[in-house]
Amino acid sequence: MQQRIKKPKVMIDLIKVSKMYPPKVEALADISITVNKGEILFLTGMSGAGKTSLLRLLCRREKPTKGFVEVAGEDLSKLSSRKIQKMRQNIGIAHQDFKLLPNRTVAQNIAISMEVSYKTPVHIRRRTKKLLSQLGLSNKINTLAGELSRGEQQRVTIARAVANEPELILADEPTGNLDSETTGLVMDLFNECNQKGATIVIATHDESIYKNTSHRIIELSQGYMVKSDDAVWPILSGIDPSQEEHPESIGH
Ligand SMILES: Nc1ncnc2c1ncn2[C@@H]1O[C@H](COP(=O)(O)OP(=O)(O)OP(=O)(O)O)[C@@H](O)[C@H]1O
Ligand SMILES: [Mg+2]
Repeated sequence: MQQRIKKPKVMIDLIKVSKMYPPKVEALADISITVNKGEILFLTGMSGAGKTSLLRLLCRREKPTKGFVEVAGEDLSKLSSRKIQKMRQNIGIAHQDFKLLPNRTVAQNIAISMEVSYKTPVHIRRRTKKLLSQLGLSNKINTLAGELSRGEQQRVTIARAVANEPELILADEPTGNLDSETTGLVMDLFNECNQKGATIVIATHDESIYKNTSHRIIELSQGYMVKSDDAVWPILSGIDPSQEEHPESIGH
């Protein structure tokens, strides 16, 4: 008797996605990727490969020129702006260029994502302190973000991204300015979020964070998917990747 295979719940489905910036920059070409809920995915590739562009499609900061982008079962091209705002409350984004408010303190920057979803001041204070302690930044809680080093700003950006315990975390070069010890703290935090159920996509040049990983690695080159190392994760969880509805297309 044929064994029934449990279908994974899908968090991200990119189907034949291309992104062209005007006048004629092909940032992404014919990308199909499925990311299951609870997965960690590393997105690698040289500068200009299209990593940030791909993350921007996932939170509807950009629209694809061709193809479909679905997040948590929603076709992002069909969402009203109100629904997009709502969806973004469930996505934690650590931007490559940080996007902190320089004239606000570290605590105020981290609080933002929790305030928009009406968390209580007590909860916000407790969560902020815990995150800063985990990231080795407890002594900077009342410092203005504009007065931090780049490595400190990077960690505040990560704390802000995960603070509201989003279902999906998009981290763009999250360890680019960090030493190996601090990189370890950031990866421990991401692993903790993942164990609590978050799906995480990490765009990175930092080979140290994925060279020994059991998670899936997808490499982009000039907008094309050139390599996908299958994760141990779906095998361990009894999911057969060949049963996915949209198998990855690799190559030009
Ligand atoms: N807003 C934009 N307008 C025009 N071209 C853009 C825009 N954003 C990105 N590009 C181009 O799209 C391509 C992919 O850029 P992207 O920022 O996605 O790469 P990346 O892999 O994140 O690079 P890096 O590792 O340097 O961050 C590049 O050629 C870039 O110049
Ligand atoms: Mg980038």
